[in-house]
Amino acid sequence: MNENSMQFFLPDLNATHQWGQQLAQRLPLGTIILLQGDLGAGKTSLVQGLGRGLGIVGEIVSPTFTIVNEYREGKMPLYHLDLYRLNSLEVEYLYPEQYWQGEDFPLGITAVEWPERLPQLPNQYLQIELCHQGEGRAITLTAQDWAMDLKNLLLPS
Ligand SMILES: Nc1ncnc2c1ncn2[C@@H]1O[C@H](COP(=O)(O)OP(=O)(O)O)[C@@H](O)[C@H]1O
Ligand SMILES: [Mg+2]
Repeated sequence: MNENSMQFFLPDLNATHQWGQQLAQRLPLGTIILLQGDLGAGKTSLVQGLGRGLGIVGEIVSPTFTIVNEYREGKMPLYHLDLYRLNSLEVEYLYPEQYWQGEDFPLGITAVEWPERLPQLPNQYLQIELCHQGEGRAITLTAQDWAMDLKNLLLPS
């Protein structure tokens, strides 16, 4: 498996939003983002930034209780999943692949909180790991079997 990785420091919520916003502007259609980090690490905050970068104006709220939130008003659809409350059998019934296969749902960006619950990982994805560092967060972006250079992904557009 081909893997490359970059790390950044995000001092506050605003930095998380901006980082996500910048990333979203360059994401190819169909990108899957798996978000790792404890409760409160900033996973949902990062998806709020992605939403801004995709031009979604409505508020992005945590899907902890709804499991999946869909946003269609941006330049491509955003599917935001939070698998925290599910066990792996329930995740299998949810059939998360439907959000990135481009058949049942139009292709877009899929962001998954608690991807540890996925019975099977996608073939190709971006992994984002957030953890507390002082008052802020350390964020690690890793491309798993990804064709695109991460540096190009993070250039301002
Ligand atoms: N870079 C950051 N530095 C400090 N606090 C942050 C940062 N990013 C997000 N937060 C804060 O972390 C808290 C938890 O965020 P949330 O996105 O709900 O976490 P998660 O989805 O991982 O449980 C929020 O109060 C948010 O304001
Ligand atoms: Mg969350």
